[in-house]
Amino acid sequence: MTDFARLDQEHVWHPFTQMRDWLRTKPLVIAEGRGSVLVDTEGREYLDANASIWTNLHGHRHPQINRTLREQLDRIAHSSALGLANEPASRLASRLVRAARLPSRRSRAAALQNPSLKWVFFSDDGSTAMEVALKLAYEFARRTRGIRRPRFLSLEGAYHGDTVGAVSLGHIDLFHRTYGGLLFRSDKVMAPYCYRCPFNRAKPERADAREYRQCHWECVDQVAHAVEDRSAKDAVYAGFVYEPLLQGAAGIIPQPPGWLRRVAEIARTAGTPLIADEVMTGFGRTGVGRWTAGRRGLPPLFASHHEGVQPDFLALAKGLTGGYLPMAATLTTQAVFDAFLGEYAEFRTFFHGHSFTANQLGAAAGLASLDLLESHAAAARRAQLEAWLGEELQCLWTLPHVGDIRQVGLVAGIELVRDWRTREPFDLREQAGIRVCQAMARRGVLTRPIGNVVPFLPPYCTTRAQLRRMVTAFADAMAEEVEHA
Ligand SMILES: Cc1ncc(COP(=O)(O)O)c(C=O)c1O
Repeated sequence: MTDFARLDQEHVWHPFTQMRDWLRTKPLVIAEGRGSVLVDTEGREYLDANASIWTNLHGHRHPQINRTLREQLDRIAHSSALGLANEPASRLASRLVRAARLPSRRSRAAALQNPSLKWVFFSDDGSTAMEVALKLAYEFARRTRGIRRPRFLSLEGAYHGDTVGAVSLGHIDLFHRTYGGLLFRSDKVMAPYCYRCPFNRAKPERADAREYRQCHWECVDQVAHAVEDRSAKDAVYAGFVYEPLLQGAAGIIPQPPGWLRRVAEIARTAGTPLIADEVMTGFGRTGVGRWTAGRRGLPPLFASHHEGVQPDFLALAKGLTGGYLPMAATLTTQAVFDAFLGEYAEFRTFFHGHSFTANQLGAAAGLASLDLLESHAAAARRAQLEAWLGEELQCLWTLPHVGDIRQVGLVAGIELVRDWRTREPFDLREQAGIRVCQAMARRGVLTRPIGNVVPFLPPYCTTRAQLRRMVTAFADAMAEEVEHA
């Protein structure tokens, strides 16, 4: 074992990790990265098939981001945003507001009453971006609607981070139950999960369950009922919180097209602000939609915009810096901002902030990343990668323990099952997902399972040959760990 591996095992407590298991194995120590490849201290190469936990967009050690960061380092790494402005953060805020403008032809649906996003509050990671959104929405509801104890509505299986506020919005029992006593209550409503939906009457097929589902949009009715129930109590939610187009940590669970627009309309009609968690889905991750190369303009960078929905709060992190540095942003409207204005002595200030809020290095990386994203060539490259990913995944439908393959843009999740004909799941204690991902790692491909779901989120520079290696490693790992186990 290298010195670093030994030191790790003596001192580093890893996130979401049973440390007893960790201490029994030899840790893989990453020494460097290059494009979609990670290299360990022993010189072995691995494909970064989940983009280093969904953060990396353009590949590791991208020359343009590296150059921008070096130039920024030669000026300053960090100064406080408490009482001071700085150049990269102000430029990034303006670029984000521009990037988050809803293309006008997508905003026609009058019932959606889409607002404009104008103000950017910077923080450090996805959890803090959500924490900011929820505190702003809470206080906004109190100040503008006179609600004494505003409540939130979020989705079954929701994960919005690990700070106490973000956990309170979440509904993954395994992670959240333990902390029940620390949390505030938020209401939960059914999320679409076509593959396991109790309202879907379709028998399993060898296709994405969204395509052959038979239902009457009962999942939308459930949101309508939840919102009506709240209205019947003479109240309104301080926010409807969701991940647009797909829920990540819930198990890479995509929504059928049209779900977001429908529920957004329901919430808006009831006067409920929309809080979109685009920590994972932002910055092109959910694909180019109907955009094709050669068309004027660029595809939307945010999942919400694929459905013509502009939220009142937009939480961004992970890919914001191209996956280089921990930085996050919460975008919101003029109306929310105005609710916090007043004379000093009125104490209407948003009393919230972090030491590294608006950090210059993070902001510089964010600017470089947006430069890379906002070009025709880059959008065409993403469109191409999205098509390749779909094509490469097709061969996996022949595997008997693959239940569902679901892809949204540049995200895919493969659900492992005991029997695809019955959708019978593996017991989590069997660690099917963990074993398959370990076997993939032995074949030089890294991703991290979510229970029985194996995610693929390739960096945008991934080649077709690399995609094929990822998929082949998965198929071989399945044969070793599940089919012949
Ligand atoms: C949708 C979503 N929101 C919030 C978070 C929390 O982000 P972070 O881990 O940066 O705090 C995550 C993390 O995976 C996420 O997927």
